[in-house]
Amino acid sequence: MAEFLPVDPFNIVIFGGTGDLAQRKLLPALFHRWKDGQIPATSRIIGSARSQMTEAEYVDFAATACRKATSQSEWDDSSWAAFALLLDYHPLDVTSEKADWAGLRRKLGTQNEIGIFYLATAPSLYVNIARAIDQAGLIRDGTRLVLEKPIGTNLKSAEEINEGVCAHFPEHQVYRIDHYLGKETVQNLMVLRFANSLFEPVWSRNSIDHVQITVAEDLGLEGRAGYYDRSGALRDMVQNHLLQLLCLTAMEAPVSLDGDDVRTEKIKVLKALKKFDASNARQNTVRGQYTAGRVNDTPVRGYLEELDPGATSETETFVAIRAKIDNWRWSGVPFYLRTGKRMESRRSEIVIQFKDVPHSIFGDASTQANRLVIRLQPDEGVRLFVQIKEPGPGGLRIKSQPLNLSYADTFAVRYPDAYERLLMDVVRGNLALFMRRDEVEAAWRWVDSLIDAWTETGAIPEDYPAGSEGPLSSAALMDRDGRSWWSS
Ligand code: BG6
Repeated sequence: MAEFLPVDPFNIVIFGGTGDLAQRKLLPALFHRWKDGQIPATSRIIGSARSQMTEAEYVDFAATACRKATSQSEWDDSSWAAFALLLDYHPLDVTSEKADWAGLRRKLGTQNEIGIFYLATAPSLYVNIARAIDQAGLIRDGTRLVLEKPIGTNLKSAEEINEGVCAHFPEHQVYRIDHYLGKETVQNLMVLRFANSLFEPVWSRNSIDHVQITVAEDLGLEGRAGYYDRSGALRDMVQNHLLQLLCLTAMEAPVSLDGDDVRTEKIKVLKALKKFDASNARQNTVRGQYTAGRVNDTPVRGYLEELDPGATSETETFVAIRAKIDNWRWSGVPFYLRTGKRMESRRSEIVIQFKDVPHSIFGDASTQANRLVIRLQPDEGVRLFVQIKEPGPGGLRIKSQPLNLSYADTFAVRYPDAYERLLMDVVRGNLALFMRRDEVEAAWRWVDSLIDAWTETGAIPEDYPAGSEGPLSSAALMDRDGRSWWSS
């Protein structure tokens, strides 16, 4: 049975407090941690946004959000009533000169030692808000500033945001979120690699043929067309989530789990990623955009129709990349990354494909190389495919069968949402699962090289029908290397 250690009392102000993220993730995450007794009753949660709303109206707003995100069996009226007492609302137009920062300061008057400012707003507002928090005299030693991704749209804008924010908050008070790092199964990646001595000797070019990282979504734009069409899959998913998965798979063992030790190892991987240019981007990358199709037996519209009837756009909703890590451990081992919206099913997994045996003693009986499949979501689990003899007469037949560790069968627990873990880590001051400034910038450096190469070569996205595995060129990318995408 898990033991929940209460955190110290804190105040959190959520800018963008009526937005999608607050509604779907932040308020429910705080409610769940409250229900498990982790949040002290003297903590305060203050939503802030442009809309004029009373405290009672915000409590109603939060109740709807939390009910939606909580199963009926988990809902508990008395817990909710007690949690509602923590909530408050402060209207603030952060773009206005007349914004009532003094009112917010008064509200925070009896401050807990730990004060958190969560910026769930457009990144273009980050610097203004950080400056205003500073000018309002709200920064103390125990203050933390949380920034949602995306941090910028390229290296230059990321540097500007980091520069602007760090002019007011020192780096150790800045928590840049990548919610993939809060997922249980992503954390398990480190445990799998560094708490088992089995894997380390084979975790390199000596035994691994290639690595595949897939984050496939069946959803489309979900009402986020305005943001997504300016972003696209490369900026929205690869720059952060997929690169974080790649780093955790490829990094050296950190000295400890301390924030800087882990982040220092990750950044070495980012720096070793071979950049793209016009001469190698075409061979090694694929851009796609979905057209109408069927997902989970339901007809769905294409990307352009979702944007607007008659819209045109060259934004990619799918990316596949053959990445190279130029270091001793991984030289010559391709890392194939792919992510897309409106694919056949929702599936995130990392496949470690080992090399074949150097010489088969089994004559005509075909063997397959070992494969480790780490399923991050859904059906979380780890499968190690090994070769076994199929029983019975009729010649020697060898089959590849999985040793199967299914989370659902092994642990009968509710999976906390990634934000629950991350929010509690912010309160505890644990930076390990947050991105450091140089890490974000190193990721952009690599992504920018690809954006520039695509611009130079005029690469336009290739169509793929919704509900498929992506454009044909994605399969061709693997095919050229005599490999194929793993599909379970
Ligand atoms: C977000 C992206 O960061 O991650 C979304 O902006 C994407 O476009 C989402 O849908 C995927 O997260 P998850 O946790 O559902 O895999």
